[in-house]
Amino acid sequence: MKLLEERIRRDGRVLGTDILKVDTFLNHQIDPELMLAIGDEFAQLFADKQIDKILTVESSGIAPAVFAGLALHVPVVFARKNKSLTLPNGVWSADVYSFTKQVTNHMMIDQRFLKADEQVLLIDDFLANGQAVEGLLTIAQQAHAHVVAVGIVIEKSFQKGRQILNERGLQVESLARIKSLNSEKIEFMSS
Ligand code: G4P
Ligand code: NA
Ligand code: NA
Repeated sequence: MKLLEERIRRDGRVLGTDILKVDTFLNHQIDPELMLAIGDEFAQLFADKQIDKILTVESSGIAPAVFAGLALHVPVVFARKNKSLTLPNGVWSADVYSFTKQVTNHMMIDQRFLKADEQVLLIDDFLANGQAVEGLLTIAQQAHAHVVAVGIVIEKSFQKGRQILNERGLQVESLARIKSLNSEKIEFMSS
């Protein structure tokens, strides 16, 4: 998505060799007009799919997921994260280890909001090592819901998440694909 790549080039900051900071429009301050365009782009990419609902993870997945939900006219459910060891009853849940942040979170969705046979689209802001999406897949499996595809705003193609999802046979659509962040340079995959 050209608009997004341009914005990443303009505002993205590289930390170390593998972190892209985009807190001016996605991860802290949010640009609603860009999110609207992102939602429309996802809706176009998944126009041929039957989708009942979108699943994402708090907090940074919510903005792009809500705009995709607006464009596709479906509700959006975000998994809540919980650091405590005990889980409430009546939730689907998964443990998710973050390589980036080196913490494990429980991710959970109230069973009222995800039912058997629902067709779900997963949306997230970043795809790095794939752990967040794996957590959502685990939750969907518990609920006997069907994951029809995965939509990602920014994929770091040099990390292993993309490959893991491909190996599972999932359709993954990423609006920006980053080939490398070496030498503080943002290099996109050629499309
Ligand atoms: P994974 O889900 O693909 O395995 O990613 P990982 O655990 O490594 O990432 C953990 C958190 O860090 C996620 O946010 C993810 O979106 C974010 N993240 C990963 N790589 C980058 C990056 O290069 N830049 C930015 N800005 N974020 C990155 P989270 O913990 O779920 O936090 P939240 O922001 O959604 O609350
Ligand atoms: Na995220
Ligand atoms: Na994040």
